[in-house]
Amino acid sequence: SGQSSGSYDLSFKILLIGDSGVGKSSLLVSFISASAEDLAPTIGSFSLLHSSSFQSVDFKIKFLTVGGKRLKLTIWDTAGQERFRTLTSSYYRGAQGIILVYDVTRRETFTNLSTVWAKEVELYSTNQDCVKMLVGNKVDRDSERAVSREEGMELAKELGCMFLECSAKTRKNVEQCFEGLSLKIM
Ligand code: GTP
Repeated sequence: SGQSSGSYDLSFKILLIGDSGVGKSSLLVSFISASAEDLAPTIGSFSLLHSSSFQSVDFKIKFLTVGGKRLKLTIWDTAGQERFRTLTSSYYRGAQGIILVYDVTRRETFTNLSTVWAKEVELYSTNQDCVKMLVGNKVDRDSERAVSREEGMELAKELGCMFLECSAKTRKNVEQCFEGLSLKIM
């Protein structure tokens, strides 16, 4: 059943970016397995060969219905970010949505979004209409919080992003993140 591509109205490419360990893969897995719909999602994975290095890029496909439309989301997630900070344009090419993730318990992952990741998006994302969402993950660890919700909102405003705080662990706001982004792209 997972092999069936199904029919859909719209297809979007969405990227997950941010420092290592912020929970990008966890958010993706949490989202993919979150809803009763598509119990056996199509899962794909491959590696991109770069001229001077290997960088592993996984993508997962999820079908969902948002705003009365059947959507096919192809969500790309990178690994080994720390060693391969600079992504090539091939990763960004054709993306309609970008999710910039930080860990609310690690301040440097938040500051790196403006100093590193937002710059990369600016450089490589050729799609002018690309919708961005800033996501503060791991809100379940509220006692260890190092970035306030207000600071998150402020940065989102600065970068022209939508904003959500979520938890891949408890699944709080995980579906809202991908669905909200999709609605905005539509
Ligand atoms: P790279 O693949 O290195 O780029 O990391 P990543 O951003 O994909 O992070 P990953 O999903 O591997 O999560 C890193 C660690 O954080 C793992 O131990 C996860 O279990 C944990 N984690 C992810 N999301 C949450 C969350 O919402 N809450 C808590 N408490 N832990 C989380």
